[in-house]
Amino acid sequence: MIVLGIETSCDETSIGIIEDNKIIVNEIFSQKIHSEYGGVVPEIASRAHLQKILPLMNDALMKSSISLKDIDLICATAGPGLIGALIVGYCFGAGLSLSLDVPFVPVNHIDGHLYSVFLENEGIEFPYVALLVSGGNTSLFMIEDFYKIKQLGNTLDDAAGEAFDKVGKLLGLKYPAGAEIEKLAQAGKDSLFSFPVAETSGKYDFSFSGLKTSVLRFIQKNFPDGIDESSKSNIAAGFQKAVIEALVRKTVQAVKDYNVRNVALVGGVASNKSLQKMLRERLPENSRLFVPSPSLCTDNGAMIAFAGLKSYQTNFYLESKITQPFPN
Ligand code: KG4
Repeated sequence: MIVLGIETSCDETSIGIIEDNKIIVNEIFSQKIHSEYGGVVPEIASRAHLQKILPLMNDALMKSSISLKDIDLICATAGPGLIGALIVGYCFGAGLSLSLDVPFVPVNHIDGHLYSVFLENEGIEFPYVALLVSGGNTSLFMIEDFYKIKQLGNTLDDAAGEAFDKVGKLLGLKYPAGAEIEKLAQAGKDSLFSFPVAETSGKYDFSFSGLKTSVLRFIQKNFPDGIDESSKSNIAAGFQKAVIEALVRKTVQAVKDYNVRNVALVGGVASNKSLQKMLRERLPENSRLFVPSPSLCTDNGAMIAFAGLKSYQTNFYLESKITQPFPN
């Protein structure tokens, strides 16, 4: 089956075309304009999606040599995300489905990330524990099968990526700052400045807002006149260590408690090499860690196409709340 996936939930416009679990094309446009504002501006994001979606669709068709009449199924992200941004991709997909007379499947963005590990190599086996770490979400899941998902824990406040972006702002970096903090941290010492790892009452929950405040206070107290480059690297290293410790500790705990072998690390922050390394080192010896390549860690249409295909094949979309998107 040839499946078109459309993603416009935040600041990536993306069109993916897959055949079963094989990616034919995955065009991603990251809206750089938000870096001028220090974060995503919803109104600007919606307009940028509107400007980009049709050219991106044409590029995808041209690069893949697929024609519209080859498409068997159309899937689009219906939530969670920025409402104005979601409407662009959703309506584009729904309109296309009407005109081509092919089924339309609304997809939950989180499901797209959770199943993104099936799009490469041999793919993962069920059951698996998934750590989803992005700019909007930080959660742990137990995945028994397609659309048999149990959420084990969640962030109580900020997402990990959001913490990276906010601390990046304190260090004078542009949005999104995650990859830049990782680079700075490589040049720094993570033992010079230490920051707290939050305790939460929920066994698998996370909390990052206290950590962010702690970095803010530390900078205000110790660097009132500005931070020199080497201290910036050391702060980045100490901060990154605290985030990684929280993520790894809870994930390893879940893997042991549920006695599963397979683990998926997904979402934008999953590209972080230190996080991947630490998780690999601390997981039980017989574990298998699956991390998608960077273009599948970030928001993309191929993962939406795959999650939509599985939703269609299992009839999940017929009973899912997401078939009535944008609830009040
Ligand atoms: O999944 P994603 O592309 O978008 C959503 O938030 O849904 O994730 C973007 C987030 C941003 O917060 C960005 O700073 C973070 O992922 N990120 C990273 C790295 N690359 C991207 N955080 C830490 N280390 C990285 N290498």
